Amino acid sequence: MTEAVQTPLVEATHSKRVFSGIQPSGGLTLGNYLGALKRFAEAQNQGIETIYCIVDLHAITVWQDPAKLRQATRELAAGFIASGVDPARSILFNQSQVGAHAELAWLFNCVARMGWLSRMTQFKDKAGKNRENASVGLFAYPNLMAADIMVYHATHVPVGEDQKQHLELTRDIAIKFNNDFGVNFFPVVEPVIEGAATRVMSLRDGTKKMSKSDPSDQSRINLTDDADAIAQKIRKAKTDAEPLPETPEGLEGRPEARNLVNIYAALSDKTQAEVLAEYAGQGFGAFKPALADLAVSSLTPISDEMQRLLQDVGEIDRILGEGAERADAIARPILEQTYEIVGMVRSRRG
Ligand code: TYM
Repeated sequence: MTEAVQTPLVEATHSKRVFSGIQPSGGLTLGNYLGALKRFAEAQNQGIETIYCIVDLHAITVWQDPAKLRQATRELAAGFIASGVDPARSILFNQSQVGAHAELAWLFNCVARMGWLSRMTQFKDKAGKNRENASVGLFAYPNLMAADIMVYHATHVPVGEDQKQHLELTRDIAIKFNNDFGVNFFPVVEPVIEGAATRVMSLRDGTKKMSKSDPSDQSRINLTDDADAIAQKIRKAKTDAEPLPETPEGLEGRPEARNLVNIYAALSDKTQAEVLAEYAGQGFGAFKPALADLAVSSLTPISDEMQRLLQDVGEIDRILGEGAERADAIARPILEQTYEIVGMVRSRRG
């Protein structure tokens, strides 16, 4: 039996705690808003403990210009707040200000297996053909993501569909750590991939994810787009010639139609079926203007608020610093217990 099993401090009780993160690597898209930010605010408003992180250490797994990274971090902070994340009710901070993330990630580098990481599709996509030239950080990225979540003993992680595989790996790391050391220390997290817009697709190709890295700006709606740009992108979005069907099954094989219905549903807090009940039989000539109006009225207040917040960068930095202190107060003791379990001598005072 390991020493750790006899130590009561390693038996954690895992009450509900939400954690999620977004990379400051370019602008925010409608996909980030519907798949993540909007839902972050909803979790907070349900009164659950919520911790949200701007994952700057993840962003540098591919090259980032330092000045642009700093700017993107502040813009993303403004995006969180403008989307309804209240720094008084949620903890909002940037990852590099809480050293426990990187420290736990190292321990997880020694738990996760090369084979597990080699199967990650995001690594394969991002590294492309030239794998030899990818950073070691890009390969180890999911271990840091697991550490982000587990350094808070978070139990629920709201994300879009594209993060599912990383969360499965997070679970595998928790299970292996607990088994290796004979403890019940890290909770096995629940991915929360819910709602109509867990995978918002490109406006140009309904089989591709809407992404900030797509070379075509027409493929996405940016949270900073003005009303004209939003309306124009929706008007020009690829569609088919059929009217909208009566039921969700009728969207089968119509990825572009499904995507626009999903976006409408998520923006208006309705289900696909409810949207179709309203628009069945109508063509895109009627549906697109309705969607454009809805998108403009939902998104322009957010981009206006972001602009307002960004006029006071000092205040944004203050919010992130204070969030980091609150985050650190939760993370540090969990990291300390992890070191104890692993067998590190911890004799430093203060
Ligand atoms: P990132 O920065 O790529 O995206 C942030 C969030 O936005 C969601 N998302 C989408 N949702 C629906 N449709 C889309 N087209 C779309 N595009 C993006 C993503 O699923 C994500 O929820 N590895 C993460 C960041 C991360 C993290 C974490 C997340 C680091 N540590 C710990 C949760 C917990 C990422 O690169 O997300």
